[in-house]
Amino acid sequence: MQVTVVYSSKYGSTKRYAEELHRRHPGALLELKDFRPKSLRGDVVVFFAPIYAFGLLNLSTLERDISRMQGKKVAIFCVGASNYNKKEFRRLYRQHFDGPLKDVPAFYGRGAWQRDKMTRMDKVLLRLNYQTIKNKHKDKLQPWEEEFLTIYGKNWDWVDFSYLDALEEWLKARDPFDD
Ligand SMILES: Cc1cc2nc3c(=O)[nH]c(=O)nc-3n(C[C@H](O)[C@H](O)[C@H](O)COP(=O)(O)O)c2cc1C
Repeated sequence: MQVTVVYSSKYGSTKRYAEELHRRHPGALLELKDFRPKSLRGDVVVFFAPIYAFGLLNLSTLERDISRMQGKKVAIFCVGASNYNKKEFRRLYRQHFDGPLKDVPAFYGRGAWQRDKMTRMDKVLLRLNYQTIKNKHKDKLQPWEEEFLTIYGKNWDWVDFSYLDALEEWLKARDPFDD
């Protein structure tokens, strides 16, 4: 089975997951900006994308490319800082993504939080968020907000390739017509 792995990554953690999947399966590894749906070889494509402010990095390119994948086996693997469980991730995914991404099988892996590498703009955005959340009453905090207060200001690395297990199961599940 040829697996085309397509990723975007700002600070490298999503790239690490994409490289690991590519290492395990024959096929191509491409950055989203270099991916051309027309040049696709094989029938299986996995897009890797980090979550930024409840969206996905390069969302419009992802939506455009995924809408051109009719007849292919396509999945998306999202990478974020939150310690989401599967149910919570699926709930948020359905809530935030519509259009071509809506019905694509979606998986999640926890990435990294590289405060020391962040751009000035990201630091400013996060500081504003931090101040808003910090001023909330403790009982009113969402689980992700409580987590945010804990991780903010430090460096973390949660990359764990066992997050790829569910995706591997999905890759193994063959279409009964796919002989
Ligand atoms: C400005 C900013 C906003 C972020 N927003 C979210 C978010 O909404 N949800 C989440 O789970 N993680 C969020 N993160 C964490 C990133 O998704 C996480 O660090 C991820 O591993 C980054 O992937 P990359 O290293 O491939 O760029 C945010 C990080 C930054 C710097």
